[in-house]
Amino acid sequence: MKTKVMFVCLGNICRSPMAEAVFNHLAAEKGMSDSVKASSSGTAGYHEGGNADHRTIKTLRSHGVPINHTAHKITKADIAGYDLIFAMDSENLYNVERIASDADRKKIMRFRKFDPKGEGDVPDPYYGSETDFEIVYEMCLRTCEKIIGHIMKDNE
Ligand code: 4NP
Repeated sequence: MKTKVMFVCLGNICRSPMAEAVFNHLAAEKGMSDSVKASSSGTAGYHEGGNADHRTIKTLRSHGVPINHTAHKITKADIAGYDLIFAMDSENLYNVERIASDADRKKIMRFRKFDPKGEGDVPDPYYGSETDFEIVYEMCLRTCEKIIGHIMKDNE
């Protein structure tokens, strides 16, 4: 059975599409694309239907990670249809938990729960520099690696 993972940020153009692309790329490298699959969404619909931020695309490209993205606002049905939901920061965690049913709430956690370098929020790079996007990329890389390991261990 395939484990479906959803990453959620605010606009679904910077942080969560970065996590989605890194996660799916790592899974493909490990030959695990049949067992795990990530998607992403936003708690706000400002950018719905649009591409990822050009700085997200540029950062991913510099690391050889492909991205093909259309921004989407999260729905209650999305939450029901995914196995694990990772909010990129505490505000998004609060907003996803708010629309989830009681039964679905246990699937939702903060992304950096699995960051080996510490918990907390993934800082919003939207008003930041290219370096801020690189910092988000590094966070996504080391955290997605751990999340995939966690899923594989659970499925053993
Ligand atoms: P994201 O970043 O939540 O990581 O996609 C943002 C994208 C857009 C906006 C804020 C944050 N915005 O205000 O439009």
